[in-house]
Amino acid sequence: MTQDELKKAVAKAAMDHIAPHLNRKSVIGVGTGSTANFFIDFLADYKNEFDGAVASSEATAERLKGHGIPVYDLNAIDELEYYVDGADETNERLELIKGGGAALTREKIVAAVAKTFICIADESKKVDILGAFPLPVEVIPMARSHVGREIVKLGGDPVYRDGVTTDNGNIIIDIHNMDISRPIQVEERINNIVGVVTNGLFARRPADLLLLGTSEGVKSIPRQNS
Ligand code: 5RP
Repeated sequence: MTQDELKKAVAKAAMDHIAPHLNRKSVIGVGTGSTANFFIDFLADYKNEFDGAVASSEATAERLKGHGIPVYDLNAIDELEYYVDGADETNERLELIKGGGAALTREKIVAAVAKTFICIADESKKVDILGAFPLPVEVIPMARSHVGREIVKLGGDPVYRDGVTTDNGNIIIDIHNMDISRPIQVEERINNIVGVVTNGLFARRPADLLLLGTSEGVKSIPRQNS
């Protein structure tokens, strides 16, 4: 199977997972990226069976609206049962690196509100230790050099993502060669740098369920509480 076929298979599996729980009041949190886009296309088939969606990016909001799915401001929503999104990397504890598409901050906010975060990913995203994928950090533009220097002190190699402005008007610094063997500590340390909006480690709030696309089919991997 191609990578796109695996992404489509996990998007379908997520839809199959939530479909029995939809009702006319349901609002679904929707992530950003090519895997999330496949999910949006499946969600469109059910648009008369739920109320609407909350989007983690402007691009996702546009795709949802294009299908005729109402998009709500998160502040208008009391409860979000599900958030469905892709990832750039996941480990076996369902701690993630996200933000390859620069949407990490809004993704983290929607994930924080959702009761159940379903991560959909093809098997290339599964790793033993996070960090081969450079860790994205959203940064207030005037803090770019300061944050870069602080990242070097933490042992990472910061690389400015040229030409990218986030939906929030900020910049992205990608951290290469960072030791992320302790994801929660790294997430907290980077978030403590003044000028950082947030970073793409989802370790304090990992996924609850990973639907992993493999050549043998979609594996359903719930997070183990430890
Ligand atoms: C966007 C993300 C995406 O979920 C991540 O980059 C995976 O993308 P794709 O599904 O296209 O492989 O975090 O900010």
